[in-house]
Amino acid sequence: MHYRALGRTGWKVSEISFGAWAIGGAWGQVSDEESMAALHKAIDCGVNFIDTADVYGNGRSERLIARLRKERKEEIIVATKAGRRLPQQTVEGYSRQNLLAWIDDSLRHLSTERLDLVQLHCPPTALYSCPEVFGILDDLVRDGKIRRYGVSVEKVEEALKAIEFPNVQTVQIIFNCFRQRPAEVFFAKAKEKRVGILARVPLASGLLTGKLRRDSAFAENDHRNFNRRGAAFDVGETFSGVDYEIGLTAVEEIRKLLPAGVSMSQFALRWILMFDAVTCAIPGGKRAEQVVDNCRAPDVPALTRRRWQR
Ligand SMILES: NC(=O)c1ccc[n+]([C@@H]2O[C@H](COP(=O)([O-])OP(=O)(O)OC[C@H]3O[C@@H](n4cnc5c(N)ncnc54)[C@H](OP(=O)(O)O)[C@@H]3O)[C@@H](O)[C@H]2O)c1
Repeated sequence: MHYRALGRTGWKVSEISFGAWAIGGAWGQVSDEESMAALHKAIDCGVNFIDTADVYGNGRSERLIARLRKERKEEIIVATKAGRRLPQQTVEGYSRQNLLAWIDDSLRHLSTERLDLVQLHCPPTALYSCPEVFGILDDLVRDGKIRRYGVSVEKVEEALKAIEFPNVQTVQIIFNCFRQRPAEVFFAKAKEKRVGILARVPLASGLLTGKLRRDSAFAENDHRNFNRRGAAFDVGETFSGVDYEIGLTAVEEIRKLLPAGVSMSQFALRWILMFDAVTCAIPGGKRAEQVVDNCRAPDVPALTRRRWQR
């Protein structure tokens, strides 16, 4: 594993970290034992940073991570999120009272006295014109409830606004070879301000693993079934907003570029790591063998333009 500085936080985190949404829910049936095995394997592979959220399985993902921390002696930095418990996303919902309640829940689920990193969980765009909310987060840092904070965003424009707030330490954004806009308009600015970047949905919900087919079926409680048209949350999240059929066709083009001995997932992740503004990719891992596959990505030789543009 290789490590990169997470912005100005002083933490060095694994280039391949662990996305803990699927082990909480919304990705079909998962077993806690299999999820624990995946988490342990991640630590064995050198992962030291996990991304989760209060709403992933309503605390289930956070509780599994708390268990992991008890079972391991390595330092594991945990980034959680707050905001999606709101029945409707409004700026007013990000009140001091609500934020405190969400943070207290996460503290309990993660069995800790202070959260490492709290990210606002894709709040409405208008929130970035509300310095008061960031003032509340500053108070939470001062009061010792959280160490640092950042944001998870849907849009590049939100990312640009977020980093105007001086204590925003990280931005989590969808970034993969299907979604390249952050590299064009955001990365240079983030680098200038030394803001850490977490690349989420790095495998386009599994499309970039190359294993999905036209007739692949997804369980009823898997967002790849119920959110294809954005019925439950932002349409840009599932398959990273790419039409499924078009995505499959693009994947076949990418497959032709694959160096020998490299898996599609490793290739997709290595592509992301070619951008030095990115701190880490946070692929979702449900099973130990997926984690092992993904954690090999940093060892894939650097990709050359020639190979990519062939
Ligand atoms: N709004 C937000 O802040 C937000 C939104 C989305 C995601 N995230 C974060 O980003 C993380 C990653 O994004 P994501 O989970 O949406 O999608 P992703 O990483 O693009 O895809 C993850 C899925 O791909 C499959 N997979 C992973 N590695 C594999 C491998 N080596 N071989 C074959 N299949 C593999 C697994 O599903 P199957 O085995 O079922 O195929 C896994 O659940 C999440 O866990 C979460 O922490 C945050």
